[in-house]
Amino acid sequence: MIKDIIDVLADPIDGTALTGNDDFTQLISESGHVYDVAPAGYITLAGDNGLRYSGDDLSMITARETFLSHGHFAPFVEAVSTTIEDLFDDIGLPDDAQPVITEVGAGTGYYLSHVLDSVAGARGIGIDVSTHAAELLAVCHPRVGAVVADVWSRLPIRDASVDAIAVVFAPRNAAEFARILKPQGEVIVVTPNHGHLAELRRPLGIADIEEGKLDRMIAQAAEHLVPVADSTTIEFVMNLDQQSIATQIGMSPSARHIHPDILAERIATLPDTMQVTARASVTRLRRVHQDY
Ligand SMILES: C[S@@+](CC[C@H](N)C(=O)[O-])C[C@H]1O[C@@H](n2cnc3c(N)ncnc32)[C@H](O)[C@@H]1O
Repeated sequence: MIKDIIDVLADPIDGTALTGNDDFTQLISESGHVYDVAPAGYITLAGDNGLRYSGDDLSMITARETFLSHGHFAPFVEAVSTTIEDLFDDIGLPDDAQPVITEVGAGTGYYLSHVLDSVAGARGIGIDVSTHAAELLAVCHPRVGAVVADVWSRLPIRDASVDAIAVVFAPRNAAEFARILKPQGEVIVVTPNHGHLAELRRPLGIADIEEGKLDRMIAQAAEHLVPVADSTTIEFVMNLDQQSIATQIGMSPSARHIHPDILAERIATLPDTMQVTARASVTRLRRVHQDY
């Protein structure tokens, strides 16, 4: 809930601290800006110009919720949870530390809620620019606060206040991540690799992930974030029926590029069940500089 993460949130306009009113229906910053908590339980924290993006629409979020609920991406969620547990072990975080874990582009909260289940007492901030995502984030776990914000703007999070940031198939803002991370904190990034969903690409007419995507991500972040170790590749085979394939494509940007009728026709030509490869990298990044 929002009140459980209030000490970490900041005014998106000027970065000052926020406090809640009596019933936490509004947040007020030290500088006097007022933000309403939506009845669904999330807070929109956008600067003067509002949000420039709307993020995933309702059909994409619904497809994502359906696809993930079948456990097809379970090895990815296990990898994210294990990596964050490893980070906390590596930095010797005490058991009663109640670390703050932020997921950016958090979607339905699938990854964040699993991580919170595996780290006792941790608090989660689920950030997404989509209000449809935020509705699900607000109820995904009792220790999550849901925030609608744009990753390309100043994040509504205080400096050096976050122990771990997870970014799974979502946009990254290295400068802002470095600013909000505690000195020993890390960003855990999951990026799809060339060959992800390979068996579906040609029959459905969707572009493959370009080679070298991971290297480019690391190079783009280099001014602010540096890898802690080599990235880990997670690869597994999913057995997907046509309905699951439709929800997989429906939750991805490909859904925007192919007319739904054409996509349905192409999916109908596939076998009833197919083996489809999932392939992604998990990368741990830490701050380059100590001062932000
Ligand atoms: C491919 S989905 C991944 C969702 C989630 N991490 C998962 O893997 O299930 C990308 C998410 O990033 C969000 N997103 C896109 N642009 C964004 C932005 N500028 N700021 C914050 N979130 C954004 C979308 O709304 C969407 O929920």
